[in-house]
Amino acid sequence: MNYLKLWIPVTLFFTIIAQIKLATSQIPTTLEGPFKPVTRTFDSSLRRGSDDLPMDHPLLKKNATGNFPEQIALAISSPTSMWVSWITGDAQIGSSVTALDPASVASEVSYGKESGKYTSKRRGDSIVYSQLYPFEGLMNYTSCIIHHVRIDGLEPGTKYYYKCGDSSIPAMSEEHVFETLPSSSPNSYPRRIAVIGDLGLTSNSSTTRDHLIMNDPSLILMIGDLTYANQYRTTGGKGVPCFSCSFPDAPIRETYQPRWDGWGRFMEPLISRVPMMVVEGNHEIEPQVAGITFK
Ligand SMILES: *[C@@H]1O[C@H](CO)[C@@H](O)[C@H](O)[C@H]1NC(C)=O
Ligand SMILES: *[C@@H]1O[C@H](CO)[C@@H](O)[C@H](O)[C@H]1NC(C)=O
Ligand SMILES: *[C@@H]1O[C@H](CO)[C@@H](O)[C@H](O)[C@H]1NC(C)=O
Ligand SMILES: [Fe+2]
Repeated sequence: MNYLKLWIPVTLFFTIIAQIKLATSQIPTTLEGPFKPVTRTFDSSLRRGSDDLPMDHPLLKKNATGNFPEQIALAISSPTSMWVSWITGDAQIGSSVTALDPASVASEVSYGKESGKYTSKRRGDSIVYSQLYPFEGLMNYTSCIIHHVRIDGLEPGTKYYYKCGDSSIPAMSEEHVFETLPSSSPNSYPRRIAVIGDLGLTSNSSTTRDHLIMNDPSLILMIGDLTYANQYRTTGGKGVPCFSCSFPDAPIRETYQPRWDGWGRFMEPLISRVPMMVVEGNHEIEPQVAGITFK
């Protein structure tokens, strides 16, 4: 009996210590600074040139049916406004493709400060894009419908719950949540900003993504080279240190646009709650007809 009485507090004590240790091994917030940079020991299993995840991998697979939203993503507009984007419908690729009508599915976001209570609603617009290749044998592409809605009049540093989609079908998403940035002043700034580049969509990209999720940033700066879709079709998803050495006969790097959709699904758990701002990198150069590269 006495032994048991002692055992419970001892167990509790070690549980608390374990949690404190776990908490201190997290990257501290900017508000706790200044502090020395925290670095992690390199995991050598994150070797260079890991292969791309296959298109049928569960993290890349489309689960949404009909015109239900998928690939939900946020971008900052200001501390009091946010962009919500998502995708509906199916992309097409091949020798004869017909674009979807972007007006066929509405772009709506319902939101509010309490879960399940959406006091406001905004509408936005939608587009489709096509990629045409100038070389024989390269397959043309036309995208799913891409929806963008800007919601404004928000309070800074505040949590909002939202659903997006088309309520007339009805085809609304599950509920998601985000927090607006604090209003900017010398004593008020985001808790943590994650800076990341060269993420890719390889067997090691999820380690990086999960590390970002674990550190709960207020904002993500993606500084280029997102999916490496630009050469997927030519390389067959294999990492190549030198593209022109390995494929001297390829007329251009044939991009494979469905990789973007896979990446959008892969990123949704993170970027449907943390806004991501993007800068294009060299792997976003995607040559098409008429000398078009970034489109
Ligand atoms: C792709 O589009 C271009 C420009 O319209 C066209 O010349 C080419 O034949 C198309 N290729 C295929 C495979 O559809
Ligand atoms: C990185 O990917 C390789 C396979 O390409 C795998 O063996 C290794 O365990 C992965 N490492 C991590 C940390 O995910
Ligand atoms: C699709 O559903 C499966 C099973 O629930 C899940 O493991 C996977 O992560 C989902 N994929 C996406 C892209 O949502
Ligand atoms: Fe890169």
